[in-house]
Amino acid sequence: METNLQKRKESRKALRIKVISMGNAEVGKSCIIKRYCEKRFVPKYQTTIGIDYGVTKVQMKEREIKVNIFDMAGHPFFYEVRNEFYKDTQGVILVYDVCLKESFESLDAWLAEMKQELGLQGNIENVVFVVCANKIDCSKHRCVDESEGRLWAESRGFLYFETSAQSGEGINEMFQSFYSSIVDMCENGGKRPMSSINIGFTKEQADTIRRIRSSKDSWDMLGVKPGATRDEVNKAYRKLAVLLHPDKCVAPGSEDAFKAVVNARTALLKNIK
Ligand code: GTP
Ligand code: MG
Repeated sequence: METNLQKRKESRKALRIKVISMGNAEVGKSCIIKRYCEKRFVPKYQTTIGIDYGVTKVQMKEREIKVNIFDMAGHPFFYEVRNEFYKDTQGVILVYDVCLKESFESLDAWLAEMKQELGLQGNIENVVFVVCANKIDCSKHRCVDESEGRLWAESRGFLYFETSAQSGEGINEMFQSFYSSIVDMCENGGKRPMSSINIGFTKEQADTIRRIRSSKDSWDMLGVKPGATRDEVNKAYRKLAVLLHPDKCVAPGSEDAFKAVVNARTALLKNIK
């Protein structure tokens, strides 16, 4: 009896967590946080100077959580200020702007910066990451599509959300899921639970989809040399079809990649005697 009571008391104890935001300047980190905490949007750009710090309380899974949010400046100029703040973090909000390819391509560099600052003792395996594909309200100028972003995130075991700090779309869902995963991790002894690591597709599938997306022509897409024979084309096609068939592959973008491979094979066979 007493242990049950104790357990319940334990579970009601407030949990303190530290969350940081990362991503290039102007992608909308501060606006996402403001939209969630203050329910408003600021259209005028006010660059974060070094770091903004705030505390908020949320109720999650019958526990009160005290969240310390460190909103980082994305500009390289502030590296010396923000590098102090990577340690002892349970959650990272990693943001890019869906209209700026460069901000998406910088995500790897942000992970590298965090890893470097944490050094050998630090372990980003035990941090919950949520990737926000932000500014989805600007659909006319969008240049990074959902499957590309989702693939990048999910192949690393990260959460992925499409957000707009302007309209509020996706913001609450993103924070709910983010905090819930952090609570799960804390209750799992500080280790990211297996469910978020089990991603359902292989690295080979993810890498192949990326390769197909960036291939320059049909030969390149099938991975054969220009002038390859029918047999070589068919062999390469079959290998990719088995890997990416939508019935077997759940990786984001696999359906489009599969279609592209089918079209590439058709186009090549037309011109091979
Ligand atoms: P730094 O602090 O300099 O690293 O930038 P930041 O990532 O915090 O960007 P911030 O939140 O200040 O937003 C940058 C600009 O983008 C501002 O002018 C915002 O109004 C605008 N913005 C942010 N989110 C959105 C969004 O979802 N949609 C649109 N249309 N604009 C947005
Ligand atoms: Mg900011």
